[in-house]
Amino acid sequence: MIGPGLVSVTGETHRKQRKMLTPVFSAKHLCTVVPNFYRVTNKLVQAISSRVPAHTVGTDIDVLGWMRRAALELIGQAGIGYSFDPLTEDVPDAYAEAIKYFAPVATSPGMLLLRQAALYLEHLGPAWLRHWVIERLPVPSVRRLIHITDVLHERSVEIFRAKRTAVEAGNDTDAKDIMGILLWENMKVSPGEDRLPEDQLIGQMSTIIFAVMDTTSNAMARTLQFLAAHPDVQMKLWREIIDVKTGGNHLDYDQLHALPYLDASLRVIFRHPPAPLSARQALKDTVLPLSDPIRTTDGTLLHELALPHGTNILVSNLACNRNEALWGADAHQWKPERWLAPLPATVETAAIPGVYSNLMMFMGGARSCIGFMFSQLEMKVILSKMIANFTFTLSDKPMIWNFAGISYPTVSTESTKPELWLKVKKLHEG
Ligand code: HEM
Repeated sequence: MIGPGLVSVTGETHRKQRKMLTPVFSAKHLCTVVPNFYRVTNKLVQAISSRVPAHTVGTDIDVLGWMRRAALELIGQAGIGYSFDPLTEDVPDAYAEAIKYFAPVATSPGMLLLRQAALYLEHLGPAWLRHWVIERLPVPSVRRLIHITDVLHERSVEIFRAKRTAVEAGNDTDAKDIMGILLWENMKVSPGEDRLPEDQLIGQMSTIIFAVMDTTSNAMARTLQFLAAHPDVQMKLWREIIDVKTGGNHLDYDQLHALPYLDASLRVIFRHPPAPLSARQALKDTVLPLSDPIRTTDGTLLHELALPHGTNILVSNLACNRNEALWGADAHQWKPERWLAPLPATVETAAIPGVYSNLMMFMGGARSCIGFMFSQLEMKVILSKMIANFTFTLSDKPMIWNFAGISYPTVSTESTKPELWLKVKKLHEG
């Protein structure tokens, strides 16, 4: 659907792509993108400020809408060196609209048939032929998805060509964005080795944008919802942020990571993962040990499960993050303080295989989230600026969190439109 990028390729192709992309997601590189993050976040603050009249008790704002716009612009600037949205006008960008509906449409019930057929269609000639066949399916959600993926693909190709021309002409030698660096590094590799072909480079663009957008913006919206519901936490966080003396400068990479309450507030949300499930398949016959035995319908007590080669497995990242046997009886409570004291011994000894902080939010192993440090940095910059400039309280509009491929909020169970409304008030004028 979004091309042969890191999320969709397997085996040797995945290994090569991951090797090429890993350096641009390192802490060393991330330090250099912080100014870019602030440039975009300052515009976000201005945009929200201009929509909140002065001296009101709070104005209803779709904070998810703004988090999405900021996340797209942030990954646009830091990821591919491209501006999607200057965050001034309310004119929707075609690409932003397409990516907004990608997950809800791609996981809608009407898509079930196509997902099954995809296994066979994959072998049906070239891409244009598969496109032609699928276009003829009389299923509205399939048609909608085709439109969405066409918009994403066309813009990715357009941006890629402009970037490649700049790199080949030597005009982008100090590129700091992910795609610019990737193109440079790729050019240095000889074609016979690990050099990535053009379709895989283009596939990386929508892949990275999709991987960032929905996850980060929904996590940010949930964080703001949590803070709106817990004014005491919001106040403590505000105090911690304004107490850091920066001499008028922005908090830098190290300062942001040295704020314990900001870190703890984000970890609260990391236990409610935007990607609640991960799908895996056993590549060989294997045995899965169980931490707690289970009793089958015939009364047998099982301490392990035999998984034959090819078995599909759904890993619940959410259940692991909130397992009472590990986290204690208060596992479901939203408590930043949990992270300011030693974690329960049951968590420490469980050897949870997640890449981050005993949590499965970013999964684990060779297919874990490559952008987990990028995402934390982005969220810390946005959250610290939001809390320094605004207060958030709950609005009267309903907030329904939908359990989809990516969890997202709507205002009713019937709606598929991602939105989350909070009352926003400016903290100081001018
Ligand atoms: C709150 C933010 C984020 C969350 C919760 C999240 C979560 C995840 C999870 C659970 C996976 C594994 C998916 C699976 O195979 O089951 C994943 C993979 C991935 N993520 Fe993230 N992610 C976030 C932000 C980001 C960011 C900011 C980027 C890039 C800038 C990114 C790029 C990727 C990529 C490329 C993969 C595929 C890795 C591979 O298959 O080798 N993610 N993410």
